[in-house]
Amino acid sequence: MTAVATSPIHAQNPAIGRPLAIGGVGLATNLLLAPIANYCDLAFRLTCRDQGGVGLACTDLLSPQGLLRGSAASLDLARTNAEDTPVGMQLYGADPAIMAEGAKWAADHGATIVDINMGCPVDKVCKKDGGSKLMCDVPNAVRIAEAVRAALPDSVPLTAKMRLGWSEEDCQNGVAGALALGLVEVGVAAITVHGRTTEMKFSGECRREDIARVVRAVKDRYPHIPVIGNGDVRTAHDCVDMLNATGCDGVMIGRGALSTPWLFRDAWALQTTGEIPPEPSEQDKLDIVRAFFERMLAFRDEHYAMTHIRRRISWFAKRINGGHCKELREAIRTAENPAAVHAALDAWRPDGPPPGAGPARGVVDE
Ligand SMILES: Cc1cc2nc3c(=O)[nH]c(=O)nc-3n(C[C@H](O)[C@H](O)[C@H](O)COP(=O)(O)O)c2cc1C
Repeated sequence: MTAVATSPIHAQNPAIGRPLAIGGVGLATNLLLAPIANYCDLAFRLTCRDQGGVGLACTDLLSPQGLLRGSAASLDLARTNAEDTPVGMQLYGADPAIMAEGAKWAADHGATIVDINMGCPVDKVCKKDGGSKLMCDVPNAVRIAEAVRAALPDSVPLTAKMRLGWSEEDCQNGVAGALALGLVEVGVAAITVHGRTTEMKFSGECRREDIARVVRAVKDRYPHIPVIGNGDVRTAHDCVDMLNATGCDGVMIGRGALSTPWLFRDAWALQTTGEIPPEPSEQDKLDIVRAFFERMLAFRDEHYAMTHIRRRISWFAKRINGGHCKELREAIRTAENPAAVHAALDAWRPDGPPPGAGPARGVVDE
């Protein structure tokens, strides 16, 4: 175990080490896997869950129209299974009736929780008044949430994920706090806040002091409503810092998990024991990549699995052999079929490839 440098972890935010409850749904921890469009599919959610510490994982943003039409792309994105629980399904859009129908669909197809996307800065989504554009018209965003809440069974909590506001001015004017309060008033059970404005997109730093303002706005009136902080959590210590700096109840982790799917395990261990478990072995890390790839093949198809593993290997590679694994990255990036992906992973085994699997890798490269 790695000893913790800063000892008074438990002395600060009482939410540290406390599992979250969202509405009537009790989670195992206070850590959530973020939606990341095109990344947090069923295969990846299960990869993170395998490692431990994930309280809730969420689908990437889903189009309610696509779900209701039964479009293959939307159904693939909404795919879940019995191991993938509890799971949030995130919807985006601006039409209350369609969002409500989409929410019903989600509840009928395995969603433990339904989330409304109020933070996506992407033009394609905002031009249709969805995503973070909802933050520009608080009464309308609240109306949408009210319609969605009314459509859901009582057993399925509704949550919303937002930013600090569209612009700096909105942020200073406290738009996120006002929106959060409006949402809670119509039955939203938890709020996630990403500490950037829409205009910042993903540039600059996550602003914890502004997340803290939203936390205070909610807690002053509704102390039992969880507020979840999000942004730039890359290590277990970042997670504890987020909890302490903002007073939030839980932490949502996105990009940090792409390279470190065991980050939830670490962040929960640090909160509950004050220590971080040893890193998975190099062999275990390769097995994590292999299991992710196998699941993509099983849940989707070869084309999908190959396209994604070629792209995703550079994220996993950040933690393999201290980031020194150029040959592995290249071999997977240029692999032509699943056998080549397996051969590349075999060749990178710390104890050398299994018999007949090709040349062993050298000592640390680069
Ligand atoms: C490529 C990409 C896609 C994203 N897709 C979604 C999405 O579908 N829904 C959503 O609410 N947020 C989405 N986000 C935002 C993340 O959920 C998260 O708020 C953001 O990445 C900050 O957290 P992090 O620093 O832990 O990654 C996306 C972010 C990125 C980089």
